[in-house]
Amino acid sequence: MRKKIVAGNWKMNQTPQEAKALCNLLKDKVNTTEVDVVFCVPFVDLYPVLEALQGTNIAVGAENMHFAESGAYTGEISGAMLKEMGVQYVILGHSERREYFGETNESVNQKTKKALEYGLIPIVCCGETLAQREANITIEWVRMQIKCALAGIDAEDAKKIVIAYEPIWAIGTGKTATSAQAQEVCAAIRQVLTEMYGQAVAEQMRIQYGGSVNAKNAAELFAMADIDGGLVGGASLKEEFADIVQYK
Ligand code: PGA
Repeated sequence: MRKKIVAGNWKMNQTPQEAKALCNLLKDKVNTTEVDVVFCVPFVDLYPVLEALQGTNIAVGAENMHFAESGAYTGEISGAMLKEMGVQYVILGHSERREYFGETNESVNQKTKKALEYGLIPIVCCGETLAQREANITIEWVRMQIKCALAGIDAEDAKKIVIAYEPIWAIGTGKTATSAQAQEVCAAIRQVLTEMYGQAVAEQMRIQYGGSVNAKNAAELFAMADIDGGLVGGASLKEEFADIVQYK
């Protein structure tokens, strides 16, 4: 049985003071061992959030990192920096980073490898645009994104990776994919993982759905056979996040 994983993606929200307040609002309500709970937060919030969540089961993640060890990359953050702080997860290849910051399949692959090297758990994002869905190329597109993101990564490492399927048309729009649509793509992702790593490994890997997950739709989405939790944007900034974690 795969353990569900519910991660909040705060995006560019919450000053350090606000971050502390949000942790204090949520931490008792989402401190569980039944589900893996992760708060993925802006870099400047990592310290206050790590401190505020000390002694809980809640893990902390970053929203991006660079693929190089260190060096002349002004404004960037390395895996070593995150690891030393006590960060456990890192979101990679979010569609907003692909769209606004030039993230490519190749850079996502490099970052995923580097994160694994540092013992960080990558949450690797994929997903189609509305135009791609309407052109009926969703599955091919997502299969390609997964193959590229995980190229050159062996089965032992692949097992640790979390995949987040996020249809771009469903992000921040209030338009959730139906549970059947989400399941169809998550099953196709598990299929490509099976082709790459074999069934035993693919069955262990966790695949989240993301895109307007809320307290009302979480239970139905998370009940689908290949959906192992959610990556939650807007609703992770509110008390509602606790209802998503306690979706059952
Ligand atoms: P949303 O964002 O829940 O606000 O749609 C999800 C995400 O982008 O990870």
